[in-house]
Amino acid sequence: MSYQIRYYVEKFKHNAVILIGEVLGMSKLDPIAEFRSDHVKVRDMLLDLIDAVNKKDATKALEIMIRLDKITGPHFRWEEEALYLVFERFFGRQYLEYLLGVHDRIIKRGRELVEILSKGEITDEQAKTLTDIIRTEVLSHPIECDGIALFAEKLTQEELDKLAESLKKAREEGVPLLEWAEKIKDAARRERGLKAKALA
Ligand SMILES: [Fe+2]
Repeated sequence: MSYQIRYYVEKFKHNAVILIGEVLGMSKLDPIAEFRSDHVKVRDMLLDLIDAVNKKDATKALEIMIRLDKITGPHFRWEEEALYLVFERFFGRQYLEYLLGVHDRIIKRGRELVEILSKGEITDEQAKTLTDIIRTEVLSHPIECDGIALFAEKLTQEELDKLAESLKKAREEGVPLLEWAEKIKDAARRERGLKAKALA
């Protein structure tokens, strides 16, 4: 077999393996790429949310909040039940508790925002206050959280594989953020011996 034919045969075999894997649902998630891609999506949604609030468009802002609730539910859950625990050996328990505190603060702000937006209008004063809150207490989290990926290359393949599995599970269950916070979060933290730092 000539070199060129052998090259194409190998290429065909390689592509076939990938295709079969995808068809059988075996294709593996890259957990760090997914982690960062969620942050990018959330960043854009938060920028759109700030824009909608500035324009006092309560309907659009509420619609963005619903989408955020959907995407951040499995993301936060996965962080608390798997990802942060794997990274704890780098940043320590105190920082982990701080991150859980940040999650709690975002959930609290999320509930407040939904309540205000559900009234269907945003006053001038609310537009200013809400924009400041979204920037300082919500948008600040994806900025900080994405920085955790700095340690990703220090993880073992086994740890990455486990993270991929737990992310898949959290996404399949797909519990939105506010529902997860109400029904699952506190019990899951207790089970793992975790407590959140109370933030102002
Ligand atoms: Fe995150």
